[in-house]
Amino acid sequence: MTNIHLIVYTTKYRKGSAEFQRIAATMKDELEKQYTDEVLCLPIVTKKDLNKIFQDLINEDKQMLSYHFVGHSGMYGPMYGTVEYPEQYSPFEIKQMEFPFAENGKAYFHCCRSARWFAPFFARVKSVESYGYYNYTTFTARKDKFKRITANSPKVYAIGSIGKKSHGYIGSLKKYLGFPVLEKMKSFQPNSTEVDATYNKVAELYDAVFQDIKVREDEWEWISNHLPKNKQLNVLDIGCGNGALLKELSSTILKGVGIDLSENILQRARLLNKENNNLTFKSIDGPKIPVEDQSMDLVISMLSFRYLDWDPLMDEIKRVLKPGGKILVLDMVTVPVKLKELPTFIVHKIKQRRQLKKYPEFNKNLAKLVSHPDWKKMLAYNPIRAEHEMKWYLESRFPGRKVEKINIGYHSCILAFDSGDIANIQDIKLTYP
Ligand SMILES: C[S@@+](CC[C@H](N)C(=O)[O-])C[C@H]1O[C@@H](n2cnc3c(N)ncnc32)[C@H](O)[C@@H]1O
Repeated sequence: MTNIHLIVYTTKYRKGSAEFQRIAATMKDELEKQYTDEVLCLPIVTKKDLNKIFQDLINEDKQMLSYHFVGHSGMYGPMYGTVEYPEQYSPFEIKQMEFPFAENGKAYFHCCRSARWFAPFFARVKSVESYGYYNYTTFTARKDKFKRITANSPKVYAIGSIGKKSHGYIGSLKKYLGFPVLEKMKSFQPNSTEVDATYNKVAELYDAVFQDIKVREDEWEWISNHLPKNKQLNVLDIGCGNGALLKELSSTILKGVGIDLSENILQRARLLNKENNNLTFKSIDGPKIPVEDQSMDLVISMLSFRYLDWDPLMDEIKRVLKPGGKILVLDMVTVPVKLKELPTFIVHKIKQRRQLKKYPEFNKNLAKLVSHPDWKKMLAYNPIRAEHEMKWYLESRFPGRKVEKINIGYHSCILAFDSGDIANIQDIKLTYP
């Protein structure tokens, strides 16, 4: 067995430029000075290249003392394409992949926000010490402080940058004015229980807020308008939470199945629906859906799609959906409000204020939930996706169907997607191998 250090870099930065290659070359130089082991530095053009690199290492009896990913990233891990094509491996795919680490091998994710969810997840499932940045990274010509890179800079680094943004007007101004920005990489130990990204600890608080799904006025109105008409439906709710949506639907549907990762929230769902014999709630951990082939008319994922294994799960949805069935997805994503959206933003804000007055119990419980330390901790390691990520995913898998924005906030919005009746399930286009 030969020990090596592996650096992989993506060839596409956002719209495609060469910074990552320069960072990887600098890193290679420095690792070679520091260690006597071989240092490999390889590009990735599409996500499948990563799998191929690991397979080649395994075939050549090589194992990684350190693995460095240089590229850009979503909240749920490295991205291998541009912003127009933000291809990722889903958590399930990462679990399945063989990463040939040496004993005490370490993983370093030199990309934005990799310490939010991905590095703790990677440390846990791959049992290796993993490093990432909590905030954004920035390119610099010096390792110890920000220095603008030029075409001639001999060295280029990706460093962590303190604060919400490293780019954008404020972030850039801060860097160029010489404010200290350096954020150290955060490390996560294998098998650490420091990060619990599930809803287990907040299940009771969450349930108290969302006893009645109608407090989510926009989402409920949209769902009501998109339910298949005049049918006795079998409905699957993925990431069902406390089961409030299925509770509301229970009198008009034949059968409902709610599935969720959190055992505690499923207990709340069973309690909330103890009268509703046509509903069942089951636990999942990964994309496998515990229902029979072609048994569902409607699959809904409300405010949970961000967490799911997109392509592997879609493969399962293809299996369980009846021909002619449909998929509804609603979720919150991050995106700053656009100038042209300001009037709609103001209307939505006023509506939201009225809503808080209309449901005082909801208002009180919501304030309790969002101020609770367990909620804050869960959110810190359980982030939401960017708009371009989710829009790209759904619209690329269902060509011709469009994502809608049903609520606009200052930094986020609610997206809603209706797949339409899917006559031929096999038409859903997946890139998942
Ligand atoms: C914001 S809550 C939404 C719950 C419910 N759909 C609603 O609208 O109130 C997100 C839910 O997704 C669940 N979840 C998170 N990760 C999941 C995963 N990998 N698989 C299934 N459910 C997951 C959480 O446990 C939680 O119940």
